[in-house]
Amino acid sequence: MSSELTTNFTGLEFVNPFVLASAPPTESKRKILKAFESGWGGVVTKTIGLHPVENVAGPKTIFQRTSDVKPYVSRSKRPDTVSHSSWNWELISDQPLEQWLPDLEEIKTTYPDRMLIASIMAGAGNDEEMANWAKLARACVDAGCDAIELNMSCPHMDRKDMGANIANDEDIIRAILKAVQGAVSVPIWVKLTPSTSTLVEAAGAAYDAGAASISLCNTFPSLPLMDPETMKFEVEVDGLVTSGGLGGLAILHQALQRVNDISKAYPDKAISGIGGIRGWREAFNFIAHGAGNLQVCTAAMEEKGSGGVGVKLIHELTSDMREYMQRKGYGSIEEFRGIARERIVEHAQVRRKSDAYNGGYAKSA
Ligand SMILES: Cc1cc2nc3c(=O)[nH]c(=O)nc-3n(C[C@H](O)[C@H](O)[C@H](O)COP(=O)(O)O)c2cc1C
Repeated sequence: MSSELTTNFTGLEFVNPFVLASAPPTESKRKILKAFESGWGGVVTKTIGLHPVENVAGPKTIFQRTSDVKPYVSRSKRPDTVSHSSWNWELISDQPLEQWLPDLEEIKTTYPDRMLIASIMAGAGNDEEMANWAKLARACVDAGCDAIELNMSCPHMDRKDMGANIANDEDIIRAILKAVQGAVSVPIWVKLTPSTSTLVEAAGAAYDAGAASISLCNTFPSLPLMDPETMKFEVEVDGLVTSGGLGGLAILHQALQRVNDISKAYPDKAISGIGGIRGWREAFNFIAHGAGNLQVCTAAMEEKGSGGVGVKLIHELTSDMREYMQRKGYGSIEEFRGIARERIVEHAQVRRKSDAYNGGYAKSA
């Protein structure tokens, strides 16, 4: 069925551009089947790996809320609060690859028209790890996955050759893409961390090495808050905590900045926008800065009564976006994709009341 929301992204046909991001909403066959039944256009699986995984002995995710009555941010349940962010220190999937493969096959057979993207992660720096990337990619594609997303952005890896720790290294980015491209011929998306001063260069290296798209943002490295009365962190184990990832509405503006940075540097390349999407307005903003696909995590997890896959959310996203596009006369998201891109300029290019300002430099006579 053709509709305003049908999109071709990285050569794949999406019935709508809304995709559940790699996270708890996509951690199991049961949840992914429910997500597709609810109407999501695609899912990126919870990241699948080959190395040992054991999560902390306590909550892995908290949802933080704020209020204008007492505007502090806390996970504590209070009346009249609204969502602020998620904070998590969850590792990648602890379900082994061998268990994922029949699940992926069944999911794809049950919903052939929905896009199934496998998120994978291995290490770097030697042939064995490059072979691990290739093995993961080949197995997931053989099981029916339509694309692969390379996780180069997990913010809580101790291993220096994994996740966000490698995202500054263009040689490693290129080597991993080479290994995966040698193993599969489906589109390869690369999920980068926002937490680097060389994001545009990293994205450039990934595109140059064959990435079909950049997915961003993963969560922002961050710490949970400490309660001044109890001296406890809002999440801790035996009084200890470590850097985790902030997601949800609190990262929306920073995610948009980074999407715009990449979109301006590589206007012809694809971007899957992630970070703080709760409704069609946030999705609109990512598209306006150049994203052709939208991923959602926190808002789906926060929805009550849907098993954490955003049943009501996907209904609202699709019907509200469709209503907006019909009202504006847009036949597809391509018609407004990137419209904000060139309106983001250097500070001195924005009009002043006088013409005296020259970006902090003296004006030459
Ligand atoms: C509990 C939790 C687990 C996550 N696990 C993964 C993961 O395994 N792989 C990955 O690439 N991103 C992971 N993410 C990041 C999300 O996919 C997403 O990039 C991030 O939450 C920002 O989107 P949001 O603002 O819609 O939450 C996780 C996020 C959360 C909250």
